[in-house]
Amino acid sequence: MNPIYDQLKRPLRDLRISVTDRCNFRCSYCMPAEVFGPDFAFLPSDKILSFEEIERLVRIFVSFGVKKIRITGGEPLMRRDLPVLVRMIRAVEGVEDIAMTTNGSLLKKYAKPLKEAGLDRVSISLDSLEDERFQAMNGNRGKVKTVLAGIEAAAEAGLYVKMNMVVQKGKNIEDILPMARYFKEKQHILRFIEYMDVGNSNGWRLDDVFSKKEIIDEVQKFSPVKALAPNYRGEVASRFRYEDGGGEIGVISSVTDSFCGNCSRARISAEGKLYTCLFATEGTDLRDLLRSDLDDAAVGAKIASVWEQRTDRYSEERTEETVKRRKKAKIEMSHIGG
Ligand code: GTP
Ligand code: 5AD
Ligand code: SF4
Ligand code: SF4
Repeated sequence: MNPIYDQLKRPLRDLRISVTDRCNFRCSYCMPAEVFGPDFAFLPSDKILSFEEIERLVRIFVSFGVKKIRITGGEPLMRRDLPVLVRMIRAVEGVEDIAMTTNGSLLKKYAKPLKEAGLDRVSISLDSLEDERFQAMNGNRGKVKTVLAGIEAAAEAGLYVKMNMVVQKGKNIEDILPMARYFKEKQHILRFIEYMDVGNSNGWRLDDVFSKKEIIDEVQKFSPVKALAPNYRGEVASRFRYEDGGGEIGVISSVTDSFCGNCSRARISAEGKLYTCLFATEGTDLRDLLRSDLDDAAVGAKIASVWEQRTDRYSEERTEETVKRRKKAKIEMSHIGG
């Protein structure tokens, strides 16, 4: 193993791999239906990395110290035969943890085969327990009942479950308490996510952000919480525990309390571009390298040189000016899976 560090001395530890740019939801903060309409041109299959190409990349990234692999989308379960990919990644020596970020709508069907293939964990997104508000946020696609069934199936299959809720003013503030109550009872960690200015389609405004502090104040009304230390260096969510011993919640506060200092995440889009930040404007194409006759060492050298030049810390630098400057230029969330 040959660890590599970026310009800010941050190691490369996590790899997030998007396996498709498609999704069966149209969340207003990610793939608004007005932009991602019926005629939207998604990537054709020959432009998307094959499972073999992904597995090869995983092997190369592991040689640099990556231990955690996260499969993302769009909605990753829109990609056919995903358990086959999980099994291939599981077989790579050095991979310690395989997780997936999903909207949960197809989990009832896939949870068991995914677990059997070697998946460890799922992060499931759900923004409300009321269909009216949930559907207003997901473009009228998913029903609460379907996602709850997916969550049950995942837990039953033995997958470790965390919940993600994007909190947006004017959309779902009233859902913070019912969600906290429900998932405390179910004993799944719920992470509240500040609405972020990812991509170029969601019309983000700072005024729509409900801050980490406001979120915690809201939760305290229901049950007091205390801050906890991170589980690992570079953890995205700040953790809190219920003082009554009823479990834990998290807040992902990219806007009001950023966490770039320890960011050890690389991202690969479904078409095989390497991104060193969620808010990047440009990626480095790896697909052509993988489809050339270069060997692993040569592909690895390219990856290492990109990481070693990395200086990204977008959330720490975010100002109205940077938000404006990157307007229309950022990679879409559906391409790099959050
Ligand atoms: P764990 O391995 O369980 O800690 O997962 P995670 O929280 O890193 O992954 P998940 O996909 O569940 O991410 C939850 C939210 O955090 C998503 O909205 C992501 O977009 C956001 N997120 C993850 N990594 C980063 C990051 O590096 N920067 C920013 N700004 N947001 C991130
Ligand atoms: N702000 C915050 N979180 C977002 N996600 C998608 N778009 C945004 C945004 N604009 C979340 C999803 C999912 C994860 C992949 O990213 O809800 O949990
Ligand atoms: Fe799909 Fe997730 Fe984006 Fe919603 S947030 S549109 S479920 S990829
Ligand atoms: Fe990492 Fe970029 Fe997120 Fe900062 S904004 S934590 S550098 S991905």
